[in-house]
Amino acid sequence: MARWRRMMGGLAAALTVAAMGTVMQTSPAAAADDGPQKVVGGSRANQGDFPFMVRLSMGCGGALYSPTLVLTAAHCVNRTGTNTSITATLGVVDLNSSSKITRKSNYVYRAPGYNGNGKDWALIRLSSPVTGLATLPIATTTAYDSGTFTVAGWGATREGGAQQRYLMTATVPFVSDATCNSSSMYNGEVIPSDEICAGYTQGGVDTCQGDSGGPMFRRDAANAWIQVGIVSWGDGCARPNKPGVYTQVSYFSSSIASAAASLGG
Ligand code: ARG
Repeated sequence: MARWRRMMGGLAAALTVAAMGTVMQTSPAAAADDGPQKVVGGSRANQGDFPFMVRLSMGCGGALYSPTLVLTAAHCVNRTGTNTSITATLGVVDLNSSSKITRKSNYVYRAPGYNGNGKDWALIRLSSPVTGLATLPIATTTAYDSGTFTVAGWGATREGGAQQRYLMTATVPFVSDATCNSSSMYNGEVIPSDEICAGYTQGGVDTCQGDSGGPMFRRDAANAWIQVGIVSWGDGCARPNKPGVYTQVSYFSSSIASAAASLGG
């Protein structure tokens, strides 16, 4: 079942903050239907709040890792190699904004050994550097793999819903591997080393299709944003007892840094 869900995630290729609606009506957090904020448990991001957020043309999110590299999910890309077909949109919460920055890709690096189970990370190299936007450093230890996380994306705002024009954001609490793998949740389908879960037991707030590849992040000891996760998969979106499952960035930080260096930074 985990494989199936992961494969479906790959097909959908992505995702944003989701939360919601019909499935969640029994949840207090989802009691209100879509109001002005559009995402149950989430809200529209303000321009400039998350300058490192990237929208990718295959329908995924990403985070600006360096001026030329975007960190995303392996399930958002096909293979390692030259790839000039992806368009990255940056610098705006409104994808239709005339002030958006766009870049074409010129290379994709997919995590070695990726087969749909774990290792869900990839780097996309842009054809020219993006200046003037803050990058998002990745966690290099497990020190920040707990607490409250922020997620953001242009994906569906409810299970089965449409992709969004405006960047949505929400916060979700850490869920331990033991809890996430318990019989009431994913019953052993989560890979503890590779993956980190986040969400509410009652559901109502989550990432969803189209948010895949985007970052899950929090503040570090110096109050700077640091990336701890990559949107990877979940059973539906925002369902009770089905937290979002994210690539555990700290576990792959050395591999990501080496790959980035090999791509020219
Ligand atoms: N792999 C999923 C996709 O189709 C990501 C969705 C994340 N799901 C979740 N419930 N947090 O894009």
